[in-house]
Amino acid sequence: MSRWVKILFIALAVVFFAIAGGVAYLFAAFPYNDYPDISVSTDAGTVERGRYLANHVTVCVDCHSERDWMYFSGPIKPGTEGRGGERFGHDLGFPGEFYARNITPAALKDWSDQDIGRAIVSGVSQNGRPFFPVMPYPAYANLKKSDLASIIAYLRTLHPIDHTVSASSADFPMNLILRTIPGEYHPMDVDDNDPVSRGKYLVTVAGCAECHTPADKGKKLPGMDLAGGFPFPFPDGSIVRSANITPDVDTGIGGWDEKTFVQRFKKYDPSRGYTPAVQGEMNTYMPWTMYSGMTESDLKDMYAYLRTVKPVKNPVRHFTASQK
Ligand code: HEC
Ligand code: HEC
Repeated sequence: MSRWVKILFIALAVVFFAIAGGVAYLFAAFPYNDYPDISVSTDAGTVERGRYLANHVTVCVDCHSERDWMYFSGPIKPGTEGRGGERFGHDLGFPGEFYARNITPAALKDWSDQDIGRAIVSGVSQNGRPFFPVMPYPAYANLKKSDLASIIAYLRTLHPIDHTVSASSADFPMNLILRTIPGEYHPMDVDDNDPVSRGKYLVTVAGCAECHTPADKGKKLPGMDLAGGFPFPFPDGSIVRSANITPDVDTGIGGWDEKTFVQRFKKYDPSRGYTPAVQGEMNTYMPWTMYSGMTESDLKDMYAYLRTVKPVKNPVRHFTASQK
């Protein structure tokens, strides 16, 4: 072997072992692996609190059921609650194909409360597989222990549905990066006597920022908290962009009073019937029909908190119809 071939060979070997070492480290040290320290009681009050959160605040049932896009904001198809199957794929800009899992007792019956808790707040499956954060587990890591426990108690009461969901898969290098995302559970300290503190908690665990803070490749843009403008494509080629919900008067919701805010949510209460989707007109991923079930007092708390965030001037065009 000539000297140069030898050097090249050694260089390649070094690169190979560096990569193999790095990958081995990623697999050995990640994902984060601790269980939340919670105990779950199954009394009616706890289950009801869990039902409320999972359907109207953390909206677990929104992603983990089938949505009906014949209607505005895609309400849930009755009878599919928790069975999973919704796909978040390349066509919507995701780095892989991710399927919301079946979270009814048919799928989770062998999971301990701690297994389910870890999946919700740290994003790791029972078998140690890390999730892509399309499920906003970094936001759920803020859930109070009592709220986390009540969501688990509620999931156990869902009607068991046998429904097999395709496996999720992440593209390279996201499949490796993914291992580093799951993190620690850090319940938020909430001052129950302060509407702003209660509202901050609700806005956080409802994941409003997941859609309302614009991001680039998963990294939220600094200084743009809740300033909107994040584009979400629809399969027909139309685009909806999240609204600016900072208190900027011209481009945000600074001009809205509390009543306007509450009524905007209550407008989509399913008891008023669903609004049919109209081809060429705006539809939205914001799960209004689910959030509309929030209590007025929780909506008022969210409003109180949203008044206190930094106003950002960012004009947003909410909808562009399909050019096809
Ligand atoms: C924005 C959509 C979305 C929301 C909201 C959401 N999830 Fe998920 N969830 C997913 C997706 C997608 C996966 C699969 C991720 C993957 O495979 O990488 C998942 C995975 C899971 C899993 C793992 C199941 C398994 O078999 O591995 C559980 C449990 C779960 N979610 C429960 C919940 C609960 C409880 C909530 C509410 C507190 C919730 N999810 C909210 C989309 C969502
Ligand atoms: C899945 C993404 C998504 C989530 C989660 C979400 N939103 Fe939205 N939101 C949107 C989009 C897209 C729009 C613009 C289209 C529309 O009006 O639905 C919007 C519009 C709004 C508007 C109307 C503003 C206007 O100028 O008309 C308000 C208010 C709002 N969101 C508040 C919230 C709050 C509060 C939360 C959390 C409880 C939240 N959103 C969660 C995507 C989302």
